[in-house]
Amino acid sequence: MNKVQNAGELAIEHWNKTPLDVSEQERYRFYPWLYEAAEFRHHGGDRILEIGCGAGVDLSQFVKHHAKSFAIDLTPAHLRLAQERVGSGAQLCRAHGGSIPFGDSTFDYVYSHGVIHHIDQPRRVAGEIMRILRPGGRFNIMVYAWWSLSRFEYMLHHGRDWRLFVENSRDPVHIDFYTRRSLEELFSPAPVTVEKYHCRIPVLEKWLGWFIVAKGTKP
Ligand SMILES: C[S@@+](CC[C@H](N)C(=O)[O-])C[C@H]1O[C@@H](n2cnc3c(N)ncnc32)[C@H](O)[C@@H]1O
Repeated sequence: MNKVQNAGELAIEHWNKTPLDVSEQERYRFYPWLYEAAEFRHHGGDRILEIGCGAGVDLSQFVKHHAKSFAIDLTPAHLRLAQERVGSGAQLCRAHGGSIPFGDSTFDYVYSHGVIHHIDQPRRVAGEIMRILRPGGRFNIMVYAWWSLSRFEYMLHHGRDWRLFVENSRDPVHIDFYTRRSLEELFSPAPVTVEKYHCRIPVLEKWLGWFIVAKGTKP
């Protein structure tokens, strides 16, 4: 019988075997909306934490724009790639988003792209984000949207096992989908603004984009 693995173990196995390693050019050509949505240019001098930095392409943008940059991830292969990319520009460590090894009110900005939907205890992560942000500090979280054209297409093309086709290999990984309501509940009582991005039919992006981005401020 196969061992039942938790979401963290699945993530480590998945991305250690098939790490994401795209160039900066490829990433922002594929996600043209990301540079502005992530606010890379707006945090010079701020202490920022990226949760789940992957191979570090986004992290390197914060570094380039003079943020005091920190990042965590669970997967050793990704941490190695990210460290190579940012050198001494950022401090990285291996940690779970539900147990962040920094003190209360340490950061001005917490960013996480494509990570929280792979974590089976998102409330723990949201609690940690609120704990490590200073009052007035901001968060920016990008997760997959339940109401999205891409999800309909994955289901249509792949049937019952469609979730196995969402990431970069067929190795299973935990995936959740979010709505405006579930994100509001997750970060409550902090108010959030929500936008959607990334849709094969651009005019539908606002309603059926693949990424749902929640931004908010710690009260
Ligand atoms: C799809 S990748 C996204 C990486 C990067 N943010 C990007 O957009 O390219 C998901 C990342 O989340 C990390 N991850 C998954 N679960 C995690 C957890 N519980 N705590 C920290 N990182 C986690 C994985 O190791 C992986 O690097």
